Amino acid sequence: MQLMDNYQRRFQYLRLSITEQCNFQCQYCLPNGYQPNKAHQFLTLNEIDNVVSTFAELGVHKIRLTGGEPSLRRDFVDILSLISAYPSINEIAMTTNGSRLLKNIHYWHQAGLNAINISIDSFSPHLFKLITGQDKLKELLQCVEKSLEVGIKKVKINTVLMKNMNDNLTDYLSWIKQRPVELRFIELMETGESGDIFNRHHVSGQSIELQLIEQGWLLQPKVALSGPAKVYTHCDYQGKIGLIMPYSKDFCKSCNRLRVSSIGQLHYCLFGDAAVDLRDLLQSSEQKQQLIERIFASLMIKPEKHLLHDHKVGVMPNLSYVGG
Ligand code: GTP
Ligand code: 5AD
Ligand code: SF4
Repeated sequence: MQLMDNYQRRFQYLRLSITEQCNFQCQYCLPNGYQPNKAHQFLTLNEIDNVVSTFAELGVHKIRLTGGEPSLRRDFVDILSLISAYPSINEIAMTTNGSRLLKNIHYWHQAGLNAINISIDSFSPHLFKLITGQDKLKELLQCVEKSLEVGIKKVKINTVLMKNMNDNLTDYLSWIKQRPVELRFIELMETGESGDIFNRHHVSGQSIELQLIEQGWLLQPKVALSGPAKVYTHCDYQGKIGLIMPYSKDFCKSCNRLRVSSIGQLHYCLFGDAAVDLRDLLQSSEQKQQLIERIFASLMIKPEKHLLHDHKVGVMPNLSYVGG
């Protein structure tokens, strides 16, 4: 069985959010910090197991744990171990703000984590604090080294581009010269709560792309299962540069991912105007057939592309709900 939508896009990659909780206050996401929503009970280990087992049966090979900050869950290692027990899931990834990484990465790696994306929005300590509310740049740079040191094969850095703040390419280049990591510039996206900051700071990734091309960086051909990021390499640099440009033409054509939120809703598009509740069917493995039917039915309504150009931002107030 294969997950495919009406536009012949195949889905072998699931982004699973396990909490909305976060301890950072990124200006574009949770500028006032996380405010608990008492009605939201996050998925239990048993429910997560039922999600993973069903999507594994449907041909998913890669699971990325997101949040909020996924590692704030006390049972985070149990979740990793649970996913590792499915041999067909060959990539277990997480996207993290890095705040719990240094002490724990060794255990996470042992439990099966093999890819990590760390958010670092600036290499200037002052700007980093201004954007994230945390004075942790030094620690985060250590996190990158430590992740490589314990043997995590894929280490990426996420930088959300903000006009007149962190959009100077030269600040980043020397850092990836000797480090085998992929630094990704993500265009700031508008969400329900971030209209203001979006209007002030959105900048297209194209100016960075032009500078890269001028400096001899080469666009890598897309490989099987690769997502919407455009990846550039240069023979003088060990690291790579990725560009995630959701406002560019045809961005959604290579969409290869589905998202399940921490309250068990399937978001067939990050900016969709609805989500499909799966939770009532996550209670027992005996409900699997019904669950599969519901997942297939939701794929049929996955839109061809997002409507961000018309400021139609969908149901989510900010990306901590489904981890981007
Ligand atoms: P890989 O798994 O390494 O390919 O990375 P990823 O891009 O899937 O993961 P990550 O969590 O690091 O994503 C970085 C950010 O890019 C997300 O949080 C979003 O902000 C943005 N992004 C990723 N995928 C999509 C997508 O399908 N649509 C849009 N609009 N943005 C996306
Ligand atoms: N626009 C672009 N990226 C965002 N992220 C969170 N909110 C936004 C937004 N509005 C990114 C974070 C992190 C990932 C989880 O999502 O920086 O890298
Ligand atoms: Fe937390 Fe990530 Fe949102 Fe920053 S972007 S506040 S780290 S959930």
